[in-house]
Amino acid sequence: MGGAALDVTRLSAGYGPVRALREVTLDVPQGSVVAVLGGNGAGKSTLLRAISRTLPYYGGASKGGSVRFGGAPLHTLTADRVVAAGVSQVPEGRQVFARMTVQDNLRAGALGSTGGRAARAAALRRVHGLFPVLAQRAHQRAGLLSGGEQQQLAVARALMAGPRLLLLDEPSLGLAPMMAARIADTIRQINAEGTSVLLVEQNAALALRLASRAYVLEVGEVTLSGPADELAASDEVRRRYLGVVDEDAADDAFRVTEQAGAAGPGGRPPALTRWVGP
Ligand SMILES: Nc1ncnc2c1ncn2[C@@H]1O[C@H](COP(=O)(O)OP(=O)(O)OP(=O)(O)O)[C@@H](O)[C@H]1O
Ligand SMILES: [Mg+2]
Repeated sequence: MGGAALDVTRLSAGYGPVRALREVTLDVPQGSVVAVLGGNGAGKSTLLRAISRTLPYYGGASKGGSVRFGGAPLHTLTADRVVAAGVSQVPEGRQVFARMTVQDNLRAGALGSTGGRAARAAALRRVHGLFPVLAQRAHQRAGLLSGGEQQQLAVARALMAGPRLLLLDEPSLGLAPMMAARIADTIRQINAEGTSVLLVEQNAALALRLASRAYVLEVGEVTLSGPADELAASDEVRRRYLGVVDEDAADDAFRVTEQAGAAGPGGRPPALTRWVGP
């Protein structure tokens, strides 16, 4: 272990004159789940697009900084080479190929894979194990699946390339709590099978339950970062990202924190890092 960490250093990006990311630095240690929280327009999707090199498809561009995976630069590659390097993205809003069958969506996901036929067959077994509904609906058009099933297909399609790092953009968005919980379980399982995860979420309670570390993005800058349990306990995060949105969710996250022993007396000292302006 230790080889395939993601290191993002002072990454800036924008869309024409619009600066959407400013000198963002973060890392995803191999084997971990790291969350990025932030409100609408904070730059979360831009961050994932800059890592996956898909920004040009949205009229954007990286404007300095570096992205390395396992020490090798990604910021000089094209999007297909990033997939081949082991990093796959599940874009915001699912974006499955609605007119294609479920099976063909999965085949499309495997196009970026560097593995051969055996690797693709293994990847298909893996996603059918994670999402049995996709095996049952293999020949149905993807557009006929429910929202939750389409989200499963979007994750499955990204997994078909056999990534070592999965970039997830708001996987719980628009899903009923039961389906969001299922997606969360699946993310946990995918991670347990050895895939690192960089998870972007507005659902802070869900993200902080899954992640070991988290970063808060505000107007394109990292303003707060630290262990997920400490962030879940911080007043600011509770008020801005947990409490206001959903009291029950805040309680859930707090309970996790208490179990981890971080909030009580004698617990670990706070280890949050606050960004301080120049
Ligand atoms: N394709 C685009 N063209 C121009 N500006 C864009 C584009 N996409 C995003 N932006 C702008 O970049 C900034 C960051 O947007 P981004 O989509 O990364 O935020 P986000 O954190 O993902 O928000 P949300 O939670 O709403 O998805 C915003 O000011 C947004 O208006
Ligand atoms: Mg977004």
